[in-house]
Amino acid sequence: MSLFEKYGGFATISKLVSELYDELIENEITAPYFDRADLKSLMDHQVKFLSQALGGPEQYTGRAMTAAHTGLKISAPAFDEVAKTVQMVLEDNQVEEDDVTHIIGMLASFKDDIVE
Ligand code: HEM
Repeated sequence: MSLFEKYGGFATISKLVSELYDELIENEITAPYFDRADLKSLMDHQVKFLSQALGGPEQYTGRAMTAAHTGLKISAPAFDEVAKTVQMVLEDNQVEEDDVTHIIGMLASFKDDIVE
């Protein structure tokens, strides 16, 4: 079974993504990056991106990670803060430790594409 199915599919991932951005727009390290973003579209794409990455249906039609983040000047500490916040949200929602480790590792694999 994929992690997408294990944790309840789009309903759960939408809830987690919504909690994630609630945190990111309140966090002084990450908030400035999202000032001009269209959060509704971003969250919709993020749900589809993560669902696909976790073995769900292939519905992501947004940009590749490098193109999506070029020009945002995302620093390594800001990336790490996002990863830390993802970890917190997963743990708060009873995602198992091994699965948290897997997901954080998967996100870390995009770090070089995202950090400028
Ligand atoms: C942890 C790994 C990350 C993943 C998997 C990820 C994923 C995504 C996805 C799927 C999109 C939508 C692209 C599109 O609509 O075409 C996006 C956009 C965006 N991301 Fe990330 N992201 C990550 C890290 C970050 C970090 C660290 C920041 C800033 C601190 C960030 C800031 C943004 C912003 C501001 C946008 C919107 C850009 C725009 O509207 O032009 N992302 N990201």
